Amino acid sequence: MIVKDEDKKINNKALKSTANPDLSASQIKNEDSYENNIRPLTFDDYIGQNSIKQTLKISIEASKKRNTHLDHLLFYGPPGLGKTTLAGIIANELNADIKITSAPSIERPRDIIGILMQLKEGDVLFIDEIHRLNKIAEEILYPAMEDFTIDLTTGKTQTVKTMRIPIPKFTLIGATTKAGALSGPLRDRFGIIHRLEFYTTEELAQIVKRTAKILNFEIDESGALEIAKRSRCTPRIANRLVKRSADWAIVKGDGKITQKIASDALCALDIDEMGLDVTDRALLKLMITSFDGGPVGIETLAVALGEDIRTIEDVYEPFLIQKGYIARTPRGRKATKSAYEHLGIKQDVSQLGLFKN
Ligand code: ADE
Repeated sequence: MIVKDEDKKINNKALKSTANPDLSASQIKNEDSYENNIRPLTFDDYIGQNSIKQTLKISIEASKKRNTHLDHLLFYGPPGLGKTTLAGIIANELNADIKITSAPSIERPRDIIGILMQLKEGDVLFIDEIHRLNKIAEEILYPAMEDFTIDLTTGKTQTVKTMRIPIPKFTLIGATTKAGALSGPLRDRFGIIHRLEFYTTEELAQIVKRTAKILNFEIDESGALEIAKRSRCTPRIANRLVKRSADWAIVKGDGKITQKIASDALCALDIDEMGLDVTDRALLKLMITSFDGGPVGIETLAVALGEDIRTIEDVYEPFLIQKGYIARTPRGRKATKSAYEHLGIKQDVSQLGLFKN
């Protein structure tokens, strides 16, 4: 049974304490351990996404009362908004173990079969980037999701035999930045589908304070707000900026994260007061100076910027669209008036409305 190195088995029952040594040691990749150590483990500690939390709590309670497995769930939305965190909380609330993997690491049929055959009754299987699952793995998953069976084939072409093997009832949680890229049959097999929303500044400020507290960093209200405002509405970024601001506070201040410390730290990182980083601004500037503000195709932008299309679409664009700096039109992307204003570039009003939509 092959389970790839990247596949991580997390025992949620053992995760109840925040400083779980198992978590940062062997089970999670090193670069993830900071994020994992500050992940909330209960709905009460999870800030934001309130309507999703409410409906999930009901579904979990109902499945417990009916003594049956929770329906398969799909979370979609931009990266860093807490899809993995929610999956961990759900497993925790179900008192179940969670197996975490990502679609690109499931290459061969035996990879997905191995994962499915290892599951125990009630386990949660989390597959990140589920839109990248290959066709064969997807087809193995269909009966597993629907009937909790795996169809195994043995023998060569002439003597091929199919065996239907039952597997324990489990809950699949899929996460994706691109719900539209999921095949219809796969999407239809999820009973619960939620889109995660960007966070408000107030929610992010609460997350920042919670993280600082867990890590024993001193922070005041204005310092938390400064970080929150510049975090692209995204908890993962807010948590990263807490760490960078704490470094700055230790070296340049007295250890406390204040508004000035946070502002200086983030300016040094080239993150502006709206949370845009160097690449965000380069993208907007490119659209304005090289393409007259657009419309311009994503392929052209990717080549000119030297970034891949997927990174622009998944990482940069959602926030810039949410903040109203970019508009998507049938003919391509356009820089909005706010983008011109933010970069301090004068818009050629004579061209507004002409030749463009
Ligand atoms: N860390 C990352 N996301 C979080 C959230 N939504 N609530 C609390 N802490 C978090």
